[in-house]
This record gives sequence, C-alpha cells and structure tokens, in this order.
Amino acid sequence: MSIRTETADGVMRIEIARPEKKNAITMAMYQQMADAIAAAHDDGGVRAILIHGQPDIFTAGNDLEDFMKHPAQSMDAPVFKFIQTLGYAEKPVVAAVNGAAVGIGTTMLLHCDLVYCADNAMFSMPFVTLGLCTEFASSLLVPLAAGYHKAAEKLLLGDPLSAEEALEMKIVNRILPPDEVLAYAQKQAARFNALPPASVRETKRLMKAGWKSVVEKIIMDEAQTFGRMLKSPEAKEAFTAFFERRKPDFSRFA
Ligand code: COA
Repeated sequence: MSIRTETADGVMRIEIARPEKKNAITMAMYQQMADAIAAAHDDGGVRAILIHGQPDIFTAGNDLEDFMKHPAQSMDAPVFKFIQTLGYAEKPVVAAVNGAAVGIGTTMLLHCDLVYCADNAMFSMPFVTLGLCTEFASSLLVPLAAGYHKAAEKLLLGDPLSAEEALEMKIVNRILPPDEVLAYAQKQAARFNALPPASVRETKRLMKAGWKSVVEKIIMDEAQTFGRMLKSPEAKEAFTAFFERRKPDFSRFA
C-alpha cells in the first residue's frame, strides 16, 4: 500500500508513502488517490482533503518505469482520473509539501486550493528536459499565477524552483519550517469544519468557473501532445539516461 488514507476531525488525509522510491507515483497509486478523493466527496463527514508526502520527499513524480510500461493512453487512465477528481473536487484540497515535488508533484499543486511548503521544498516541472511537454493545464496555470516570462524560465529551461521562488510565483501560500508544515496544513484544513460547506463549495466553484472550459481544452491538447512525445526518441534518451545515472544527450536531435 503506497497511498495511505485516514479521516479524522473532518479532514481526509491522503499520504503518499513510498519513500524507498522517493514517493514516485505508479498508475495503481493514482487510482488509489482518485478513489480516495471520490470517497471524500461522498462522505458528508469530510469537510476538506489534505495531501502530503514524507518528511523528506513530497514525490519524485511519475514512476518512470511504470510510466514507460503503461503510458496513459486515454482519459480513463488513472493519472487522468486522479487529476480530474482533484480538479473537480468540490471540497477544498490542502497540500503540505516537504522536500522535492517533481513533475506531477508540482502540477497537482496547481489544482489544490491551499499549498503550504517547507523551506527545504524544491519544485520542478522538468518536462522539456525529459523530452516531453507540459501537462494537466500547467501550460496555462503557471503563466497565469507567475506571469509569462517567469513561467517560461521554469517550463522551457526546466529550472527547479526553491520554496521562495514558488512563493514568489504564487503557487504556494506560505513557507514553514519543515517539521511544522504538516501540522499547519492540517490545522488550515480543519478550519473548514467551522465554515458553512455550501458557501465554501459554491465559492470554490465560482473562483474556477472563469477558466474551467479553457483548462479542459488545454488539458486535451497537452494530453495528445504528451502522448505523442512519450514515444519520441528524445523521451527515450531522457528516461534511459535517468536509469543509467548519466546526463541525457540531445545533441543528435533536430
Ligand atoms: N521513477 C521511478 N523510480 C524513481 C523515481 C521515479 N520518478 N525517482 C526516484 N526513483 C528511484 C530511484 O531509481 C532509486 O531507486 P533504487 O534505489 O532502486 O536505485 C530510488 O528511487 C532513490 O532515488 P535517487 O535518485 O537515488 O534519490 P535522490 O535523493 O538522489 O534524488 C530525486 C531524488 C527525486 C531528485 C531523484 O530521484 C529524481 O530526480 N527522480 C526523477 C524525477 C523525475 O524525472 N520524475 C518524472 C517527472 S515526469
């Protein structure tokens, strides 16, 4: 079991718990998280959802081996189900990030409502350096949050973001000492117990309504492009280089 869930005091906690692989997420884990969010939706006792990883790692992103073996072929793939249930979650979603949040680890935060991170957090969207492209509306949501040029630096060059940069780029709410992040995020999530759920639900829906159709359109475009690029020799070189513990060599590609 690499995803642990627990509901207490009105908060469903979803813990990514695969430390031996730096919390890399497999298809089975995406499915477990999608199911957990759906269960939170159906449970009247749940007022908020909290997603977190381990004290030294949020997630290394997609499990690269699993990802190559079972690429997401359709909108029924577990990774789509996960992002869809997260993006459409009516209840507020809070994230607590310690350590690295790679790839989908950062992308998923764009679909959460409140994001708290440790001063040791490191965010990255290394899609270009993996021979791939942006995913799940990061092409839209990162420029929207941070402005085009800052987003271009991070998405086109694949540079990681420190906690301070993530705050400056407005993709996190607050930076805390590493051993305080989870407790603080938990406290913020529990605050929804004292608020009227329908008001929270409708306000969240209305805040997202303005760009919902654009988000859906861009996710489709990204998914088609990503699927095509996943089969490219550039991606193959990038993935092979990771497992061979060497730098990828893109010099032969035009
Ligand atoms: N998929 C599959 N396995 C992964 C993984 C991933 N995304 N990230 C880490 N692992 C595995 C490593 O292969 C290694 O396994 P092993 O012990 O069986 O050899 C183990 O997790 C520890 O990883 P390691 O790289 O040694 O840890 P680190 O502390 O030096 O670095 C990261 C941590 C997260 C910076 C680094 O693992 C990393 O860059 N991972 C890949 C990130 C990535 O490209 N994600 C895909 C985005 S789409």
